[in-house]
Amino acid sequence: MIRYFCVRSAISAAKTLLLSSTFVLGLLAGGAPSQSPPSFYRDVLPVLQTHCQSCHRPGEIAPFPLETYPQTKNWAAAIRADVESRKMPPWFADPCCGKFSNDPSLSPAQIETIINWVAGGTPPGNPRDAPSAPHWTSGWNIAPPDLVLKMPVPVKLPSSGDVEYTYQIVPTNFTEGRWVRMSELRPSARDHVHHAVVYIRPPESKWLRGAPMGVPFTASTLHDPHLMHEAHSTTSDLLLVYAPGSSPENWPEGMAKYIPAHSDLIFQMHYTTNGHAATDQTSLGLVFAKERPKQRVLTLQLANEHDTIPIPPNTDNYRVEVYGTLPNDALLLGFFPHMHLRGKKFEYNIVHDDGSRETLLRVNYDFYWQLSYRLSEPRMLKAGTKLEAIAWYDNSRKNAHNPDPDSAVQWGDQTYNEMMVGFFDVAVPDDVDKEKFFVRASHP
Ligand code: HEC
Repeated sequence: MIRYFCVRSAISAAKTLLLSSTFVLGLLAGGAPSQSPPSFYRDVLPVLQTHCQSCHRPGEIAPFPLETYPQTKNWAAAIRADVESRKMPPWFADPCCGKFSNDPSLSPAQIETIINWVAGGTPPGNPRDAPSAPHWTSGWNIAPPDLVLKMPVPVKLPSSGDVEYTYQIVPTNFTEGRWVRMSELRPSARDHVHHAVVYIRPPESKWLRGAPMGVPFTASTLHDPHLMHEAHSTTSDLLLVYAPGSSPENWPEGMAKYIPAHSDLIFQMHYTTNGHAATDQTSLGLVFAKERPKQRVLTLQLANEHDTIPIPPNTDNYRVEVYGTLPNDALLLGFFPHMHLRGKKFEYNIVHDDGSRETLLRVNYDFYWQLSYRLSEPRMLKAGTKLEAIAWYDNSRKNAHNPDPDSAVQWGDQTYNEMMVGFFDVAVPDDVDKEKFFVRASHP
């Protein structure tokens, strides 16, 4: 942090002088007067390491790495433009509401550092000033997984047309229940994955029993009408949701998701086509809790499938809302809003008894960046709390992603259909599962 002090404007440098000891340390470490332009190794690289390299390194989702001086210098103009406009790093929460622990946004001082570095002619500085390289887990953004489960059979994807949701059921063969602290999904054909969900099917669940194990299937390859219907609806708990740009699951100390003994994991893959045929074999990495956590994490959802969609043609601010009342106390951890191409804005509110609304998160929705939003401070919600989700859709020509503003948009799986799902994570006592959570405790 000290490093940034010496590159700020004269006024802020003067202010910083009051913290003289750290400032002097900064000067010694940097060895440069405060007016000198920021250098790559001393000032820019630390920002790239902490805010960019999670995606901008080989094998991750960004199209080029930002690890070395030549790589970064090459992209200097674009980097400057994108950090100045706050296009990078990607983040869509409206600053109006909530603080989020996974917010990667740069501080104004960091943005200024990058602008000044580019304006100053992108000097490399002294490589000895470079911070040590971060310890990435190769191939993962979580700690090295204790277990990697791969979809058993690769899925062939055509070059064009719709692909129905594709499922694979993978037995865990766990002989005892396992607590999952971190998890991450890694598709092998990332450009083809619009979203993926992994559900936990405990041994007593009847969901999709009779569907084939360990091979890909879709609703229409199932034949049995009952099973076909089941493919689209479940009350099973979610292990995790993945979409491009979403961060892996990493629960705070003392909290974890639970996979009961002898459960199966059901991968639900939503593939899209992009002109190139491909094969995908998604892997799931799991890091187990070292000891039994006190709290179990459940992913719940507020969804409105029936009331308000279809969305009329040529409307630019179509609103859909849904609310639910929490049956029991729960500690709210974070959110994952999900819509499709017409998605414009998504909001989560608490509706207080007097009817006033408190907005917990407002997202300026971007279909190509579906992110999760983790509260910096988890929030205790009492049983009876009314949670509301509101979604706005732009089905007009103004929406650059809109495939057809003249059509009325129905609910559906494909991206030209719409969805309205407000996922949210809560922590509950370790012995409460999803079913039990929805049994309302009797209140005196
Ligand atoms: C969550 C992942 C992620 C993070 C974090 C991230 N990027 Fe990116 N970046 C991407 C992806 C994916 C693309 C290509 C798609 C796009 O442009 O939207 C991209 C594109 C870019 C581009 C190219 C835009 C163009 O004009 O082609 C620049 C420049 C860039 N990023 C800089 C940065 C910088 C600087 C940081 C850190 C301050 C950063 N990114 C953080 C994922 C990320």
